[in-house]
Amino acid sequence: MAREPLITGDVFDPGPGDELDAASAPPSEREVLWSLRPRTLDEYIGQQPVVDNLRVAITAARRRGEPLDHVLFHGPPGLGKTTLAHIIATEMGATITHTSGPALEKPGDIVGLLSNLDQGEVIFIDEVHRLSHTVEEYLYSAMEDFSVDIVTGQGPKARSLRYRLEHFTLIGATTRAGLISAPLRDRFGIVCHLDFYSDVELAAVVTRSARLLDTPIDDVAALEIAKRARGTPRVANRLLRRVRDYAEVHGTGSITPAIAADALTREGVDERGLDRLDRAYLTTIIEGYQGGPVGLEALAATINEETGLLADVVEPFLLKIGFVSRTPTGRKATELSRVHLGYPPAVEQPRLL
Ligand code: ADE
Repeated sequence: MAREPLITGDVFDPGPGDELDAASAPPSEREVLWSLRPRTLDEYIGQQPVVDNLRVAITAARRRGEPLDHVLFHGPPGLGKTTLAHIIATEMGATITHTSGPALEKPGDIVGLLSNLDQGEVIFIDEVHRLSHTVEEYLYSAMEDFSVDIVTGQGPKARSLRYRLEHFTLIGATTRAGLISAPLRDRFGIVCHLDFYSDVELAAVVTRSARLLDTPIDDVAALEIAKRARGTPRVANRLLRRVRDYAEVHGTGSITPAIAADALTREGVDERGLDRLDRAYLTTIIEGYQGGPVGLEALAATINEETGLLADVVEPFLLKIGFVSRTPTGRKATELSRVHLGYPPAVEQPRLL
């Protein structure tokens, strides 16, 4: 029988980049965002290749009565890494323990967690690229041989004791696949990349969430919200909540395309989903650095933001929609972004004589 997930730490703390949405919201809002998440693979919309692969792996593991192989999720924040980890635990009928790379400071932290796991249980490590080197080294044998070597005593009296662990499943999540060492990465049997959602997929997420929130919405309005949600379900659900407030105050409570567009424009979210920070990022490159190239550190200092926030949250979407390009000498604003923000083309147009 499926057991209730065991959660350590703050499950509503979804990691880097979420400053823009869930983590900055009051607890009740974060709880609502959490409650909108799908609980099973059947409820999950989008990421079809990932969902298909997981379904096969889970079905096979269950048939054999074995724990699932270790899983690594990588991709921008808000796309469903944590959600999928919890879905895997549910589908495997397993308990999940939730922690993060920076929370595991000492070898004792990870050994303590792992030695408490029963056969088949799931441990979810968010921001797995931020594990310390020593903690990571303990994970190697834990993941591969389900054992850890603990050294007791010092000097000539030092002894190494092998401690056997139950066969657990480690699920790691990261926004920075490039920062994961090869030995750690190689120990994950299943590696899944999560990509941005299409507008149509996000519209389906919005429609599902609106139904759970008991808010009437039509298909065009759902698409209007989806188009402004930066390819990210967590953003889509946050925008839906803002639009729902607006519809209740300025309309009848139903979300129409006009209400959605009005509410989101007032929120500072434009038709392509850019918010104030995206615009500050782009206008700084265009006006402050003549369109670039400019290095990330200089850019972050100029707009007074964290480099991590720009690299993890702002840039992946702007790169995806072709508004910035990354060159060896730095970031450049593209013609597409200049046009979108109303700047004249940077390239001299040939004059007709
Ligand atoms: N809510 C947030 N992400 C979702 C997804 N991928 N499918 C369904 N509902 C969601």
